[in-house]
Amino acid sequence: MVAIVARPPLPALLALLGALLPGPGAAQTSVKPLEAIIPRGGSMKVNCTASCDQHPILGLETPLTKSVVASGSHWVTYELSDIQDNSRPMCFSNCGTKQSAASTSITVYWFPERVDLASLPHWQPVGENLTLRCQVKGGAPRAHLSVALLRGEEVLNQQPVVKEPAEVTATVLARRDDHGTNFSCRTELDLHSLGLGLFQNSSVSRQLRTFVLPKIRPRLATPRIMEVGTHWPVNCTLDGLFPVSEARVHLALEDQRLEPTVKYSKDFLSATAWVNVTGKDEGIRQLTCAVMLGNQDQRTQENVTIYSFPAPSLTLRVHHSPFEDLGNKFEVFESTVVIVECKAHAGAVVTLSGAPTKPPDSSAQLKLNATAEDNGRNFSCSAALEVAGQMLYKNKTQELHVLYGPRLDERDCLGNWTWQEGSQQTLRCEAKGNPTPKLDCRRKKDEALLPIGDLRPVKWTISGTYTCKATSRLGAVTREVVVNVISQPNNMVIILVAAAVTLGTVCTAAYLYNRQRKIREYKLQKAQEAVAMKLNTPP
Ligand SMILES: *[C@@H]1O[C@H](CO)[C@@H](O)[C@H](O)[C@H]1NC(C)=O
Ligand SMILES: *[C@@H]1O[C@H](CO)[C@@H](O)[C@H](O)[C@H]1NC(C)=O
Ligand SMILES: *[C@@H]1O[C@H](CO)[C@@H](O)[C@H](O)[C@H]1NC(C)=O
Ligand SMILES: *[C@@H]1O[C@H](CO)[C@@H](O)[C@H](O)[C@H]1NC(C)=O
Ligand SMILES: *[C@@H]1O[C@H](CO)[C@@H](O)[C@H](O)[C@H]1NC(C)=O
Ligand SMILES: *[C@@H]1O[C@H](CO)[C@@H](O)[C@H](O)[C@H]1NC(C)=O
Repeated sequence: MVAIVARPPLPALLALLGALLPGPGAAQTSVKPLEAIIPRGGSMKVNCTASCDQHPILGLETPLTKSVVASGSHWVTYELSDIQDNSRPMCFSNCGTKQSAASTSITVYWFPERVDLASLPHWQPVGENLTLRCQVKGGAPRAHLSVALLRGEEVLNQQPVVKEPAEVTATVLARRDDHGTNFSCRTELDLHSLGLGLFQNSSVSRQLRTFVLPKIRPRLATPRIMEVGTHWPVNCTLDGLFPVSEARVHLALEDQRLEPTVKYSKDFLSATAWVNVTGKDEGIRQLTCAVMLGNQDQRTQENVTIYSFPAPSLTLRVHHSPFEDLGNKFEVFESTVVIVECKAHAGAVVTLSGAPTKPPDSSAQLKLNATAEDNGRNFSCSAALEVAGQMLYKNKTQELHVLYGPRLDERDCLGNWTWQEGSQQTLRCEAKGNPTPKLDCRRKKDEALLPIGDLRPVKWTISGTYTCKATSRLGAVTREVVVNVISQPNNMVIILVAAAVTLGTVCTAAYLYNRQRKIREYKLQKAQEAVAMKLNTPP
């Protein structure tokens, strides 16, 4: 049963209370309990008792929902329900004409409805201040309610909760160690003093991500010039990154992204990519490296000059016959007019060996009447191109082959050799010609072959007059070669004298030896005779 009491106007109630205050020796009203703490929305029983010698009129003055749960002649037990706020219900009694009253104090407690930690920055730079905000909504009694901001388990700031809603803040310097740390806030409703316990409510925890991106540009190592058709590595590095594994690299040539291989070591990142240089990239291009970490990035740009520089073309051709399939070998007969031509692509300057000096141009020409001396001559054409202040060269060489008949002149084969017998000499005789001629040298008198090459020693027997013949498919030439070997008479004298001296020495030695032997033999004989004489003498 629920009895709802109409609320009397406050001044009237106060007047009534003044009248009701018990006088000395008057009837008494008491209430139980005098104090109570209950959770919000809860119910409790209040017992009003009157000490009165007659049947008293008992009542409970409260704006709360009340109902009588039990009663006697001098008491009534009420149940108060749905108690939302602190309240002071008052029991009163009328004992005849005397009135008295007593009130109870009800304290309502409740936990905060919301404890919210404002979201943290997505990334927080190390060394910068981070402000944490926590909002608390609801909760009572406020005198017993506080809120703490936590880094992990460490309390950063603890304050009483006052306003509604209440906000507490704490500012901390973000550290490397805070990376991955959970921040949260927690309310504490401490009702120990009221006979209850400690009640905590926590916000969701939020994980902080801190980072360090140094205020320096990445180091970008790249060739300053790149030739079309080549490929080059480019490397971008940056040190002092934290957490390095979260760093990202962007490498691009203009708007063409490169695919780098990224290596991480302690706080250090190195990205390497290959640039395949194609013709469409020709010109000055920007190579960019950007390292991104957290919500920041650092970038470096370098200019790369992309050029194309084909090697010059070097052609040898015969006058009046523009088309000649040269293959690898260009061969002409002696006294043929040969044109040597070198061409490079526009912008390059060529230099052709042997050509007269001319103002710089991208082509050069040389005309010559081929001689035997030109056989094996190399023509080289060097093209020079300036790219980004750097001189680049590309060369081409071609060999000229001149066909000419056999040659056997004084330079190739001396016609007269005069040597001393026994000396060491080298006989040179070589026929010239293209194709190389075959050489055959025979002595006139007996067809003996000329000993060409090293002679050690020279023998008397090779003297004579030889006929040398050089032959190739282009003809034949002959040449006479005289070899004189002169014997050394002085040598014979020395040998004879030496022999005589040797013989003399040997004879003298033999004589002396013989004489010495004979003396020794004589002495021995004499001694033997003396012994024999002693043996024959009787004692
Ligand atoms: C932080 O909280 C997340 C979940 O919210 C948890 O996975 C992680 O282990 C916590 N980190 C620390 C350091 O307590
Ligand atoms: C607050 O904490 C108490 C216990 O300490 C719990 O019973 C209550 O459900 C919590 N309130 C919220 C909103 O989580
Ligand atoms: C790159 O070249 C541009 C012009 O093409 C120039 O403005 C810029 O300064 C150059 N940058 C560097 C780093 O040399
Ligand atoms: C080439 O040189 C040879 C020998 O010196 C000469 O006989 C010939 O006429 C020259 N040819 C030309 C086209 O000048
Ligand atoms: C090409 O020729 C130039 C000038 O003649 C020379 O400096 C350079 O070394 C040559 N390069 C090669 C690869 O032969
Ligand atoms: C060869 O040389 C010798 C001495 O040097 C000389 O006497 C002789 O006449 C020369 N013979 C020829 C054919 O030149």
